[in-house]
Amino acid sequence: MKKMDILQAPFVREMVEVTTNLYRLGWDERNGGNISYLLKKEEILPFLDPNEVLRTIPMIFDGSKLAGKYFIVTGSGKYFKNVSAAPTDNLGVVRVSDDGKGVELLWGLTNDAVPTSELPSHFMSHIARLEVDPENRVIMHNHASHLLAMSFTHNLDEKAFTRTLWQMCTECLVVFPEGIGVLPWLVPGTNEIGKATAAKMKETRLVLWPQHGIYGAGKDMDEVFGLIETAEKAAEVYTYVCAQGGIKQTISDENLWTLADAFGVIPKEGYLEER
Ligand code: 13P
Ligand code: ZN
Repeated sequence: MKKMDILQAPFVREMVEVTTNLYRLGWDERNGGNISYLLKKEEILPFLDPNEVLRTIPMIFDGSKLAGKYFIVTGSGKYFKNVSAAPTDNLGVVRVSDDGKGVELLWGLTNDAVPTSELPSHFMSHIARLEVDPENRVIMHNHASHLLAMSFTHNLDEKAFTRTLWQMCTECLVVFPEGIGVLPWLVPGTNEIGKATAAKMKETRLVLWPQHGIYGAGKDMDEVFGLIETAEKAAEVYTYVCAQGGIKQTISDENLWTLADAFGVIPKEGYLEER
């Protein structure tokens, strides 16, 4: 059966749209940032023949828990700025090989391009998130400016960092009641940072890489984009608050408890003063 034009596939359109938005926001300079999006086989079948493997690309970690799964990913060294003009050069659809030692390329990543160098962090995070939420499909990394700046000026204790974000915008507690995970500074693209990110992802959908950027996870593109956008907005407000001379009043823990009750969310245990 004749396949449809993959450039019209909803998952390609979504990747184009989100990378364009992320670039517009200034969070993905040069090749900064990467996205992986778990696809269902039935989503790719109208566009691709799963038996037509263009090439196999080795991975430096064990992806066997994702064997047979399909993803659309951003390419390594590719600029989000360029994705909309040339999706085939900058994006790729891959399937994790049966032995978990590589990915089979089905579309895109032309001229021998390879998936993002952060594939260990992405795939290990997918494995971690799928264990707690079978609906999880998207992992997104970018260099959100104010969160990145805040990783220089704010205490990196997870509870302290989370509490400040919750206090900066009323919506924050509702959007990420589990808080934000914070790693130590680590070398990007390694299995070590992949394992550390995935370990945090078991508890929180947001993980800060100090002096580097942010990771987010969720069931769809809107959820992850919205999650990062909300935390980044709080970090932006924090930047203004500091520039305006510091906090004179904020949202009290009592208010945060009332908010949690009103929206039916459970704040991370121990992060708010007991009522
Ligand atoms: P890639 O171009 O390999 O995706 O790397 C970008 C990045 O942000 C590394 O952390
Ligand atoms: Zn990065």
